[in-house]
Amino acid sequence: MHPAFQNAASAVPITFATKSTWETLAAALPEPARHFAKANAFTGKPGQYLALPAADGSLAHVLFGIEDQAGAWRDLFRPGQLPGLLPAGTYRFANAPHDTRLAALAFALGSYRFGRYKKNDAPGAKLTPPDGIDMIEISRMAKAATLARDLINTPANDMGPEELAQAAQALADKFGAKFSCIVGDDLLKQNFPLIHAVGMASTRAPRLIDIAWGDASHPKVTLVGKGVCFDTGGLDLKPSSGMLIMKKDMGGAANVLALAQMIMDAKLKVRLRVLIPAVENAVAGNAFRPLDVFKSRKGLNVEIGNTDAEGRLVLADALALADEEKPDLLIDLGTLTGAARVALGPDLPPFYTDDEPLAADVARHAHAENDPLWRMPLWMPYDSWLDSKTANLNNAPGGAFAGSITCALFLKRFVESAKSWLHVDIYGWTPSAKPARPEGGECQAARALYKLLSERYG
Ligand code: BES
Ligand code: MN
Ligand code: ZN
Repeated sequence: MHPAFQNAASAVPITFATKSTWETLAAALPEPARHFAKANAFTGKPGQYLALPAADGSLAHVLFGIEDQAGAWRDLFRPGQLPGLLPAGTYRFANAPHDTRLAALAFALGSYRFGRYKKNDAPGAKLTPPDGIDMIEISRMAKAATLARDLINTPANDMGPEELAQAAQALADKFGAKFSCIVGDDLLKQNFPLIHAVGMASTRAPRLIDIAWGDASHPKVTLVGKGVCFDTGGLDLKPSSGMLIMKKDMGGAANVLALAQMIMDAKLKVRLRVLIPAVENAVAGNAFRPLDVFKSRKGLNVEIGNTDAEGRLVLADALALADEEKPDLLIDLGTLTGAARVALGPDLPPFYTDDEPLAADVARHAHAENDPLWRMPLWMPYDSWLDSKTANLNNAPGGAFAGSITCALFLKRFVESAKSWLHVDIYGWTPSAKPARPEGGECQAARALYKLLSERYG
């Protein structure tokens, strides 16, 4: 089980209240507790927390406000605030929150703190597993979120292409998967020109990570994750404000590793392949330049409109490789555009696919897991925006419009034989803490996709 969960004979009860259920709940409390709650102005408003003392002053009972049943919107992760509020100890749900399964998951997700460089005040509150909930599944998801968050939160000086490859290898080893890696100039010899071009200016060699797992006769599911360990923007350098959190630019890689961990742990009936182009987009005399042209793995000549549109370049070569074995399902995740944030904000990543049943399944599972994703179109009328006067296509169309869509259309040029393709333009970061989502690196899309895959291949 995840460390946030603990069985205990005596656990402090947590009662969930809303503005409309509070009166009834209060009436059932012992009189001193009712008076104490009233004196402390507890009304059951969302996020409100009150510890009720026993006669001897010890902690007897916890009250916690959640959104009203009648409200138009309820944060099903609201109980994820509890680990940050409760003193160390073991607790249990005394009544049902809006969604007990998601509440338990939120409790575990909200217990996360990044403690690599500072002794942190990791929450000491534990939850007794609620009845009737598959705690193995909840723990699997929460552990995967920890993996993704730890990888993203680790700063670039300790999470370069090599360290990212080591993390991938550790995961592969844990599940007996095959691991291989093409490093540095070998990328040129084995025809990955774009991955090499983006990564060559760093003193830390670019590489392509390749993990394979599972029965070769099972359906082929291939995951590709953008592993830009730091994105300076290259020669078209980012301003300091834009560069600040670019250690998170390997968020796609972190999330495909989190997804792979869940798939392998649950032994889904797939032949899994994970591809991660791991590079640092750095500045040096040998950096790739605006208007350079590179012949990609697929053979398309790509003109560089902007060296800051590097994610789609490294993904293009990785997608081309993935596509060569005609996978049944090809999924890529990456922190690709600021434009996706302009459209939908940090918490709602757009996804793209031409596979209608897949789109419906993604939307359904994203909703059910509270791992929100929103479909945007592969809008072919904009495809010509990728045209280049010099080469087959340009990586950064001029004009400021529809940047997440044109990025998706760029990637689409490199996928031809996969039976089905899904692209998710994630943010991988929570800018300010929300229930179950501490500030910093975030697991996005992995839980929804895991549930989709386990429904199809479980
Ligand atoms: N890693 C960035 C995208 C990004 C920026 C994600 C900020 C989240 C927050 C990506 O490599 C990038 O720089 N994209 C450019 C593309 C443009 C030059 C066409 C962008 O979005 O500005
Ligand atoms: Mn960039
Ligand atoms: Zn980037």
